[in-house]
Amino acid sequence: MIASCPLPDKNIYVFGPYRLAPNRQLLSRNGLPVRLGGRALDILIRLVQRAGEIISKNELIAFVWPNTFVHEDNLKVNVSALRRALGAGAASAYIATIAGRGYRFVAPVTIEPTEHASSSWPASAYAQTLPKAPLTIGRDGDISRIAGRLAGARCVTIVGSGGIGKTSVAIAVGHRVRNYSDGVLFVDLSTVGDPQNAPAAIAAALDAEQNSFREIIDCLKGRNVLLIFDGCEHLLPTMTTIADHLLDALPMLSLLATSREPLRARSELVHRLPTLETPWTKPDITAREALDFGAVQLFIARAQEHGFYVLDDRDAPLVSSICRRLDGIPLAINLAASKVRVFGIPTLAAMLGQRFLLINGERTAPMRQQTLFSTLDWSYRLLSDAEAALFRILAVFAGVFHLQDAVVMAEIAELDASQTIDALERLTQRSIVCAEYRGGALNYRLLETTREYATKQLADVGEQDRAVKHHARHILSPFKRPTEDCMA
Ligand SMILES: Nc1ncnc2c1ncn2[C@@H]1O[C@H](COP(=O)(O)OP(=O)(O)OP(=O)(O)O)[C@@H](O)[C@H]1O
Ligand SMILES: [Mg+2]
Repeated sequence: MIASCPLPDKNIYVFGPYRLAPNRQLLSRNGLPVRLGGRALDILIRLVQRAGEIISKNELIAFVWPNTFVHEDNLKVNVSALRRALGAGAASAYIATIAGRGYRFVAPVTIEPTEHASSSWPASAYAQTLPKAPLTIGRDGDISRIAGRLAGARCVTIVGSGGIGKTSVAIAVGHRVRNYSDGVLFVDLSTVGDPQNAPAAIAAALDAEQNSFREIIDCLKGRNVLLIFDGCEHLLPTMTTIADHLLDALPMLSLLATSREPLRARSELVHRLPTLETPWTKPDITAREALDFGAVQLFIARAQEHGFYVLDDRDAPLVSSICRRLDGIPLAINLAASKVRVFGIPTLAAMLGQRFLLINGERTAPMRQQTLFSTLDWSYRLLSDAEAALFRILAVFAGVFHLQDAVVMAEIAELDASQTIDALERLTQRSIVCAEYRGGALNYRLLETTREYATKQLADVGEQDRAVKHHARHILSPFKRPTEDCMA
């Protein structure tokens, strides 16, 4: 009779180039993890623990599928998979079939106690999937806070507008956390076009043999892993379902996602990434004062990468105003700083007013980050018709606006009050419109570069004149009573 809940086996079993750690459900070959389905791994564990003995088929079935009736064929299929994983040529060298009786592990096995073995065990089974630590100027607070939140919650999503630094911060958190004994697995979903292919991308990062959800669960079973899903916004709601399923099925797994809007997974905590701190409007700001701000530090660091540049008191007000104009968005600041060598600071500052960064960028960046236009276009293409129509119209607001302003302006797109409220809420969740409470009221605003993009879209659909005139009428006339009633 097999005990249904055996004590954890903390030994490491070594055979040939393999090391097997039953309590961590981990098999490695020459120091690298071997991907193996959960059932096949269980069979291997039982065979290796009792190496040299014949283990009957019934005993293996009872060990691997406790309290469940399964046909013997399932055992055969998994033993074949196990033999394949151990190397086709060497199959008989490890597991022998004893006709009519069962299986026997025939290779010599040595046992190391955990204390000795752990020092040579790979520190992180998935370390190779995590990109190297990026520059994260001005983000120490966010990185610590997110790492801290992960200690208490199993699902955290870093949310923010395009190019604000979500991926950079997620990678930095992956390097910071130390409490995942099986490491950090990074899955780049930004290049996955179709939500149906999301499981395949995850399976590929896991090096799983098949793309099925079952296989993914099997690979991660018993692993204490932080899974990073990077760039989810275009794969919603598929990623929500995947996150919920994985968290339910794998109690030792934690999830860190990045997305321009929340996943809405059941146990999700949202960390909204703010823009980098930018200097206040102060005409005589000094270089020393300006360099206290993350946005300026980033601008200078990137400008120096493209050629020798030192910030002096003469340039400090202009650089501060460039960073402010770019709303402290790292991607925008990077793009601007890469042009310093060609244009110099005063010309660059002057050109920013002419949609310069919207269309000029860096060829080496990923496609959707080559220009600000492509970054914003990525978000724009995910909008519904109503959201897109409202977004274009919001270009008329140069600064803060309120819900009732949006409702009045949306009349020209034939959106009623409730459609406008919905669309504005969605645009806010998608990090396209910024919302903040101030003085007891909810203030909305488009970032400067986002507004430039919206203006271009408005002009392209031929609505600009009408929108500007409607806006002028709205400013000049008192707010209409019926719409106020709707708000109430
Ligand atoms: N704090 C930072 N310090 C230095 N560079 C940064 C910082 N944050 C972001 N960057 C740089 O800005 C660019 C955009 O960052 P990142 O890709 O992390 O943004 P994102 O929010 O993930 O964008 P997307 O929404 O397109 O996925 C990258 O080139 C990155 O290296
Ligand atoms: Mg990203």
